[in-house]
Amino acid sequence: MEHINPSLVPQRQLNNGMVIPGIGMGTFGNDRYTSEEVSNAVYGSIEAGYRLFDCAAAYGNEKDIGEVFARAFSNGIVQRQEMTIMTKVWNDMHGQGDVLVACAQSLRDLKLDYLDVYMVHWPYPTYHAPGAHLDGINPNAVPFSLDEYMSVWRQMEKLVDMGLVRSIGMSNMTITKLEQVLPLCRIKPAVLEVEINPTFQQPKLFEYCQAHHIQLIAYSPMGSPCRPERDTEPGDVVTFDMPELQEIAKAHNCHPATICVKWAVQRGQIPIPFSVTQRNYTGNLKCTTEDFLTDEEMETLRKADKNARLIKGKVFLWEGAESWRDIWDGEDEWNTL
Ligand SMILES: NC(=O)c1ccc[n+]([C@@H]2O[C@H](COP(=O)([O-])OP(=O)(O)OC[C@H]3O[C@@H](n4cnc5c(N)ncnc54)[C@H](OP(=O)(O)O)[C@@H]3O)[C@@H](O)[C@H]2O)c1
Repeated sequence: MEHINPSLVPQRQLNNGMVIPGIGMGTFGNDRYTSEEVSNAVYGSIEAGYRLFDCAAAYGNEKDIGEVFARAFSNGIVQRQEMTIMTKVWNDMHGQGDVLVACAQSLRDLKLDYLDVYMVHWPYPTYHAPGAHLDGINPNAVPFSLDEYMSVWRQMEKLVDMGLVRSIGMSNMTITKLEQVLPLCRIKPAVLEVEINPTFQQPKLFEYCQAHHIQLIAYSPMGSPCRPERDTEPGDVVTFDMPELQEIAKAHNCHPATICVKWAVQRGQIPIPFSVTQRNYTGNLKCTTEDFLTDEEMETLRKADKNARLIKGKVFLWEGAESWRDIWDGEDEWNTL
């Protein structure tokens, strides 16, 4: 198997001084892959040179991934301190005292004694079961509440004080929500994990995070071709089919996926592509170390933004909400430059 020297991979410095890899590996099997397939990919990607992993309690596979990490550490292919391990508190663990319990459970499952990054997965306390379909919408779903979110964030801050977590972060936030939350944070989020890919670039959120020294983590960086059905709609843009992406891929003699990764890393967000295919995940890492996109190609891709969100979060809709756009505070209407 090909090994990419992790020291050649671009690195990013967070607002608390932590330095983490500029690309990581996703671990959400998208309800389509078995835990075993995901575990094999995680082990293989450590061997390939990945040092950043994006986990979540909600993915239901932390125990299996914990076994993989333990095996990698005991086989000596990597040491714990060389790894950046991120995970997230799920929406059913937002109550008082719950965040510490959720963190302890993730530590136990992942077989770790600290996390590098711990995130609030969604700014809603709305649980949905793994693999939920849209008829599985939770009737108790509620809209965003600043008080509710801050009670979760206070618990996140405590985890840093306790030394269980090196950095804390947010996920699936909008500028509208960040504007309310950031002034109240004792410890500012070091990262924000949101959907970003060439078809949904979120330039305003990107600029906002840069101005507030929050590192963006880009989920679904390939346009999530295998996303759950609940997140698809007729007419959805297919990222790999974008003519601009295809043309640049042709010039670099590679798959459009490779261009998605190069574009993300060169722009400055940290992509966390998921793949179960050794050739693909190895290539995704390797491409960050060579054959860079030109300024002109970056500009072509910037202009190709379709402002088309793929992961809509419809399962979090509450009674009275008009459409999935309410989850995102209607920002998709103006999130262009
Ligand atoms: N915070 C959140 O709420 C949230 C939401 C969604 C996702 N995430 C995170 O983001 C990660 C990635 O997002 P995602 O899984 O939705 O989608 P993604 O990474 O955009 O797309 C994954 C798909 O791309 C294909 N792919 C990857 N590399 C490729 C390559 N070089 N050539 C061709 N195809 C390639 C994979 O197929 P193969 O397996 O065949 O390579 C897989 O089907 C997740 O695993 C998860 O960790 C977080």
